[in-house]
Amino acid sequence: MIVALTRDVSPRIAECELTFLERQPIDYARAAAQHAAYERCLAAHGCRVVHIEPAPELPDGVFVEDAAVVLDEVAIITRPGAESRRAETASVARALERYRPLRRIAAPATIDGGDVLRAGRTLYTGRSARTNDDGIEQLRALIAPDGYEVIAVDFRGCLHLKSAVTQIDVHTLLCNPKWIDPLPGFEMIAVDPAEPFAANALRLDDSIVLAAEHVRTRAILERRGYAIEPVATSELLKAEAGVTCCSLMVEVL
Ligand code: GLY
Repeated sequence: MIVALTRDVSPRIAECELTFLERQPIDYARAAAQHAAYERCLAAHGCRVVHIEPAPELPDGVFVEDAAVVLDEVAIITRPGAESRRAETASVARALERYRPLRRIAAPATIDGGDVLRAGRTLYTGRSARTNDDGIEQLRALIAPDGYEVIAVDFRGCLHLKSAVTQIDVHTLLCNPKWIDPLPGFEMIAVDPAEPFAANALRLDDSIVLAAEHVRTRAILERRGYAIEPVATSELLKAEAGVTCCSLMVEVL
């Protein structure tokens, strides 16, 4: 069974961090409704949605993916690259410690979970504005004992590695080729050029969650035989986030 850890949208989401995007008004009520629909989607696909304690004072707190990297044996509590986001990790750690032993990234390292793309026992880890080389090295050292490999990846033009590329099946990645070069060993499916943010997809057992706004990329994937679960994310997209950012998936035996 998969536990999906999520956290309510903060009423202060309009004050979120932005790096590559211009600030636009964010409708909190709509963001909360979209987030609730996202949670219902995960539940409909068999996930047990468990809420992390609310953090209304933390504008980006809904983006729980950045606070941890969850593996089969252990969870790594990150040290987010944005100072304003560091307070998010304590409550995420309290939620995760029920399911996994915890290990922690320490200063001066920084790493956001959104920069870590797990494929089997390999963690492709993006060097970014949020994730530094110390963060990549600490992650490598923390998970090597469990047999995981970390491969550092350069990308450009977007906040997190998983804005540029996500995995949609064992052999296939969905990517924006303007933001990342092909990763060896995978087939790369490109998003529609008109939808640069569409590469952020959340793979479930039986379908792929994709922002409903990305209709052209959805058509590309459906033509390839993928089952797509569209969820409206207009307000979360304005916060420079996507569908993977809003949950931490924990396999529970
Ligand atoms: N607003 C998402 C982030 O910058 O981390």
